[in-house]
Amino acid sequence: MTPPAGAEAALSILRAEAAAFFSLPESVKRQHGSADFNFGFRPYGRQYSVSPDRPDLNESFVYWANHRSKIPNGNRITPFLDALSAYWEIAARATEGILAGLADRYGYTEPGPLIRRSSYVEVNWYLRDDQRDLLQDRHEDGHLLTLATSDGPGLEIEIAGRMQPAEIQDGALLAMPGSLLTAMTGGQVQPLYHQVSNHRLPRRITVLFLANPPLDQPTRPYVGTQHDALDIAAQARTSGAMFGLPPAPVLPSPLEC
Ligand SMILES: [Fe+2]
Repeated sequence: MTPPAGAEAALSILRAEAAAFFSLPESVKRQHGSADFNFGFRPYGRQYSVSPDRPDLNESFVYWANHRSKIPNGNRITPFLDALSAYWEIAARATEGILAGLADRYGYTEPGPLIRRSSYVEVNWYLRDDQRDLLQDRHEDGHLLTLATSDGPGLEIEIAGRMQPAEIQDGALLAMPGSLLTAMTGGQVQPLYHQVSNHRLPRRITVLFLANPPLDQPTRPYVGTQHDALDIAAQARTSGAMFGLPPAPVLPSPLEC
């Protein structure tokens, strides 16, 4: 998709702030991560795509629901959180636009799915490695949609059974359907399988916006039954488990903090 208004400028600031953060000593970065690895810094080794013995070759910073108060010691990294907050808002609005189009397409009569309390920005900082050909193994995301952008090559997507480089123009975002969108559409929209190839770049930063439906209330699918609605909320809470992650946090609206 073409970049939403303001996305390029917000991404440029976010990448610069992220590079500064990830260049800090490990001991300092760990002061900005929660014990359950849901909020803020997530060190290398905590997340994998297929198998725990092949962790994704990156560190991450995770920013849920525009809740900066959830980041440990956030007052020491205010410019980074400002940049995350600005991009989160732009990406949330763009995602809501895509979902509104889907709602139209399916004649969906209720608002949503509502994503603002349950979606997050994840910044991935890739590590140098000369051994592995893949920095992340082939997988699908366990969300409704992922808006992906990177400052370097490597992302490959599966088209007609073949992995091929994703062509993302400078500043553009790739909207990738995840397995929750498959559930929402009764299987009509399949997840986009993807992986990250190792180009042995000196630096690679990916910025993802991962959109979830509400985690604490049923969401009626575009195609399906009330029973499916309960399943979608439960699936949204626990889909990270297949990547080694804890259950997704149930948060109040940012306005309620
Ligand atoms: Fe992914």
